[in-house]
Amino acid sequence: MLVTTLGRMCGIIGYVGASSAEDVVLAGLRRMEYRGYDSAGIALVTADGLAIAKKAGKLANLEKVLADQPLPPATTGVGHTRWATHGPPVDRNAHPHISDDGKVAVVHNGIIENFAALRSELERQGVELSSDTDTEVVAHLLAGAYDSSTEPATDRFAAAMRAVCLRLEGAFTLVAIHTDHPGQVVGARRNSPLVAGIGEGAGEYFLGSDVSAFIAHTRDALELGQDQVVTLDVEHGIAVTDLAGTSLQPRRFHVDWSAAAAEKGGYPWFMLKEIDEQPAAIADTLRGRLADTGQIVLDEVRLSDEDLRDIDKVFIVACGTSNHAAMVSKYAIEHWTRLPCEVELASEFRYRDPVLDRSTLVIAISQSGETMDTLMALRHAKDQRARVLAICNTNGSTIPRESDAVLYTRAGPEVAVASTKAFLAQLAACYLVALYLAQARGTKYADEIATIVAQLNKLPDAVAETLGRMDQVRAIGRELAKEPTILFVGRHVGYPVALEGALKLKELAYIHAEGFAAGELKHGYISLIEQGTPVVAVVPARGRNSVHSKVISNIQEIRARGAKTIVIAADGDDEVAPYADHLIHVPKTPTLLAPVLTTIPMQVLACEIADTRGLDVDQPRNLAKSVTVE
Ligand code: AGP
Repeated sequence: MLVTTLGRMCGIIGYVGASSAEDVVLAGLRRMEYRGYDSAGIALVTADGLAIAKKAGKLANLEKVLADQPLPPATTGVGHTRWATHGPPVDRNAHPHISDDGKVAVVHNGIIENFAALRSELERQGVELSSDTDTEVVAHLLAGAYDSSTEPATDRFAAAMRAVCLRLEGAFTLVAIHTDHPGQVVGARRNSPLVAGIGEGAGEYFLGSDVSAFIAHTRDALELGQDQVVTLDVEHGIAVTDLAGTSLQPRRFHVDWSAAAAEKGGYPWFMLKEIDEQPAAIADTLRGRLADTGQIVLDEVRLSDEDLRDIDKVFIVACGTSNHAAMVSKYAIEHWTRLPCEVELASEFRYRDPVLDRSTLVIAISQSGETMDTLMALRHAKDQRARVLAICNTNGSTIPRESDAVLYTRAGPEVAVASTKAFLAQLAACYLVALYLAQARGTKYADEIATIVAQLNKLPDAVAETLGRMDQVRAIGRELAKEPTILFVGRHVGYPVALEGALKLKELAYIHAEGFAAGELKHGYISLIEQGTPVVAVVPARGRNSVHSKVISNIQEIRARGAKTIVIAADGDDEVAPYADHLIHVPKTPTLLAPVLTTIPMQVLACEIADTRGLDVDQPRNLAKSVTVE
């Protein structure tokens, strides 16, 4: 028998109210499909018991099933869109899973680590399991733990959920319905995301992996914490308890972006829309945080100046694109604050036993606020008494909640799996944090900070101007669409930009791509270059201590070996023109801020190449937006 743990990073929604649960749940799944698209499913409590539909593949497959065989009307339901790590994404493994008595349907995100033992126990009791998943175990356990004599009756299903959670090991978000409680949805979470939404009408409530699940209906939400169980009850409202059954008062928050922000708005791809939203993402992230005096104001940072003066070392932990933002910010932090700063892949951080103490500031950068590797790095840092500051785009998510302080990027919802506007907003936030540290520690005078602040304020316009020049890049993208390999090089802050360009291309276009520090080419990588190999190079601005001339030498070296060079340089810099097959100009901006502009052609290039190759730009194969497993 194939036994696998499936459904690890998924989108979950639960609904009770007066509307059609099928419509609400399907619309929520559409907005959460970026979290996983290996299968989708829905379960409703109807007058005749549970009604279920589920299908392997993208949500469109489930929608087709429902169009052919509509489910009976219902106002309570759950839904799931799944990203699988092991095993076949087939119909029988799609969520929801049903208990053997046919009364409970459950959807799950996470891994139940002790499911093999629980499964054996159920099999010994004669329960027949019909899927390969760990989730199905929970459905049977919920049915077994349900006690029809528990009082009050409204707490009966939640009591069963608490009892089951106490038996589970691992990470999970569970959302479940029970035919004996047609007006209830019960959820629970441990190390996986879950937020509750409070509908605008009376008696309408939602659960979702993130607020996009219900943003079309409400922007008022509740944070749910670790090992908490939540009951949505159409008559009695929302109740939250810990696993012992003690009542809790969750923090309420308001989501400041609209449902329209999570729609495509006429664009063929979310990614294109999100690339175009970058001027606003930066402007919104900077807004209100730069006082006229040049002072940086970070209200959400709850660390005193004394705390900040105590700091003698900074670590930045993050994954993927967020890690590239971290690499850029290292240059700014060290240059502006003179504090030593190390950037770590969050997935490696705690396994190498880093030296941390109360004087260490750990900055965790995450768009989603749910990336498990980053969360675990943060917890490790806190265990070692380090101070933790989160830079995050998602209000109510776990990483900012567990941090000592948070600076929210205000990029709005990012739906495309490939991160674009969140990255640029992270860069803006990182510059603010670096200046804030410099201000608190007195390593920069106020007038110096004011000068940089003025430069930051020009970035939204410069981003808009860069976006207006992208026709040239799209044409290059079409020219390169059939290339088997594309290389990216840069130095100083251009190096993380090169890494980001290569990551974008790999994840979207499935083309072999590598990013290098240009100075390393001669130490081995240059042997990859053949006649016609495309190399995208980022040229830094000219200036004191600049590596401008060195990068130009590197470009000459690769061109001499037959490379086709696509060069990104600042306006007015034509020195590289003789060595560039294509020269892309971006507005001139100070070296440390340049990644905000030089990344844009990389994003557009990857998007155009993927589109030309006929690929799904928003939902690349094998990926999911929010990586909630280690
Ligand atoms: C980038 O395009 C990817 N989506 C991925 O590398 C992402 O940046 C990474 O998984 C980290 O996600 P986070 O920012 O939500 O923590």
